[in-house]
Amino acid sequence: MEIRKATHADAENGSAVLRRSITELCEADHGGDQAAIAAWCANKTPEMWRTWVDQQATQLYVAVEAGKILGVGMLGNTGDILLNYVSPDARWRGVSKAMVAHIESEARKIGLPKCTLKSSKTAHAFYEAVGYQDTGDGNVMTKDLNP
Ligand SMILES: CC(C)(COP(=O)(O)OP(=O)(O)OC[C@H]1O[C@@H](n2cnc3c(N)ncnc32)[C@H](O)[C@@H]1OP(=O)(O)O)[C@@H](O)C(=O)NCCC(=O)NCCS
Repeated sequence: MEIRKATHADAENGSAVLRRSITELCEADHGGDQAAIAAWCANKTPEMWRTWVDQQATQLYVAVEAGKILGVGMLGNTGDILLNYVSPDARWRGVSKAMVAHIESEARKIGLPKCTLKSSKTAHAFYEAVGYQDTGDGNVMTKDLNP
């Protein structure tokens, strides 16, 4: 598996991974409510993907194996992890761990002291396991990159 920058050519498959990950894996958050799923998925489109690829304020990454997108991650230039979604076909295989490690490494390269994210209920135990702590502000979690 390699993690690389996303391109426009990834737009269809990448956004489909986002929508499937939300729909199929985030039951603890949306409870199967179709309106909640639709709202969460509303901006996970090929058009929005191309905007994310083009904008300067974020870096979009894909984890790819044998030409298939297994995971999607996005780092904002101020250290926010804005997306971190695994394909339901590749859950518990280390994809998200590798994606978070990659994002943290990129964040360190541009001199950021910490990464911050808003965790789903689904991913909370995962983020704790990779070193994130609750800030006490809702579902916001943070990790010091230079402890
Ligand atoms: C929870 C989720 C993020 C984990 O990603 P993943 O790629 O499946 O997980 P990985 O294989 O990279 O990491 C597994 C680690 O998660 C932790 N973990 C937490 N709960 C676990 C569980 N029920 N089973 C296995 N591992 C679990 C362990 O520390 C494990 O590490 P280990 O294998 O070294 O023990 C993912 O499965 C998921 O549900 N994503 C849905 C989208 C989402 O909510 N994204 C976050 C938006 S903020």
